[in-house]
Amino acid sequence: MTAQIGPLLVGWRFGPLSNRPQLLEDETLERWRTIIEPFRIKSVEPVRMSTVEERSARLADAGYNLFNIHSDDVLIDLLTDSGTGAMSAEQWSGIQRGDESYAGSPSWFRFRDAVTELWPFRHVIPTHQGRAAEKILFSVVGGPGKVIPSNTHFDTTRANVEFTGAVAIDCVIAEGHEPAAIHPFKGNMDTEALDAVIREHGADNVPVVFVTITNNSGGGQPVSMANLRATRAVCDRYGLPLFLDACRFAENAWFIKQREEGYADASIPDIVREMASLADGMTMSGKKDALANIGGWLAMNDDAWAEQCRNLLILTEGFPTYGGLAGRDLEAMAAGLREVVTDDYLRYRIRSTAYLGEALLESGIPCVQPIGGHAVYIDAAALLPHIPALESPGQALAVALYREGGIRGCEIGSVMFGRHPDGTETPAAMELVRLAIPRRVYTQSHIDYVIEVIRWVAERASELRGMRIVQQPAALRHFTARFEPIAQ
Ligand code: F0G
Repeated sequence: MTAQIGPLLVGWRFGPLSNRPQLLEDETLERWRTIIEPFRIKSVEPVRMSTVEERSARLADAGYNLFNIHSDDVLIDLLTDSGTGAMSAEQWSGIQRGDESYAGSPSWFRFRDAVTELWPFRHVIPTHQGRAAEKILFSVVGGPGKVIPSNTHFDTTRANVEFTGAVAIDCVIAEGHEPAAIHPFKGNMDTEALDAVIREHGADNVPVVFVTITNNSGGGQPVSMANLRATRAVCDRYGLPLFLDACRFAENAWFIKQREEGYADASIPDIVREMASLADGMTMSGKKDALANIGGWLAMNDDAWAEQCRNLLILTEGFPTYGGLAGRDLEAMAAGLREVVTDDYLRYRIRSTAYLGEALLESGIPCVQPIGGHAVYIDAAALLPHIPALESPGQALAVALYREGGIRGCEIGSVMFGRHPDGTETPAAMELVRLAIPRRVYTQSHIDYVIEVIRWVAERASELRGMRIVQQPAALRHFTARFEPIAQ
């Protein structure tokens, strides 16, 4: 990826970290050297080329919902970074090595050791993906009358909390709600708000405090070590456990290394272990920073909770040495965990996401800033001010990117959040289109193409029209709703 010191890094000079050198020595090189993908390609998947006419027809068939598109008809798939990464030769070797013993498989022990090398919690409980870990944990600790604060709960986390009758509360810092606000750790917990939530509801009703690293729903924004420490202090004041939703922990650790005073020389595994030392447990989706296509885990120190969680695991996922997984999946995660914490991988990962975001910003295309770790979020409300929120500017933009360039992103706005259980509609807080970058899948020329298409669409933004929902289910409508373009 061509590395540019774009407006964001320059911005840091005037930010809270102003009195430390902004660029490490090797980053100085990045001013003028391309950061190449730190891998060669051994196996390829063809991308089928298509025309605007073909894609227009596919859109009409799909009711203008990109979840309904056959992925063979997508050129660049940025729907999610979850489970969509390319595995390494080491990971594929692990797949072959996978031992499928029901109990006590060597693959389990390799997986457990890889997890505890970074996250030395006493209990590691494998699950088929992140939300299964959430479901089990909240079934044990949630329930009516309970309150679970977080910086920002991811959708499945919130849904799993609420499913038990508990209440999920977000306490991210104020900057976390402002798409254009620049802050190096925009995912930070507002620790005063957290303290107030605990006092208001009573510590007895707060079974656990969560921090999501990086904060996906807030734009893939990191949380600083200082903020984790401050959150820990609030938890200690009330005797509460702190858990991390650690899906993108390695990306978070890289941001700490780059942006937080005192960490420039620390290794990523050491930064991860320091994050672990501040927490009592974690939920994890191996589909993100374990570089695997499936998998996850729940880990914790508390023996009594672990016993209850394992009992539920056996009921819903499987025996505690495989969870809902095959031995080969455990091997893929074990190898992935070693690769994800390397500087070469993380430098490429974070800079390549920033490369896309900075190119869009330089073209005047409004995005959530700073650019996060795993995705670029275009501010569709700002780009399409002529389309009212309830005419789905995010959906209109996502559809246009697919039609013009075969790029599949995801609306995160009023289609996803605008409808309430009583059927009424109000605009969501933001109208975004997320372009999530699968890990190690696309090259710089793919991303250059994405930039060209978005610029082309943005230049014609005033011609885009809103979308009307013509059919929708009672809940989670964004997955299956059908739309039609609103005529001029
Ligand atoms: N927590 C966070 C922060 C996530 O981003 C996700 C998934 C989960 C938990 C659930 O993990 O998918 O393995 O069950 N995020 C995906 C996304 C789906 O596209 O952002 P899972």
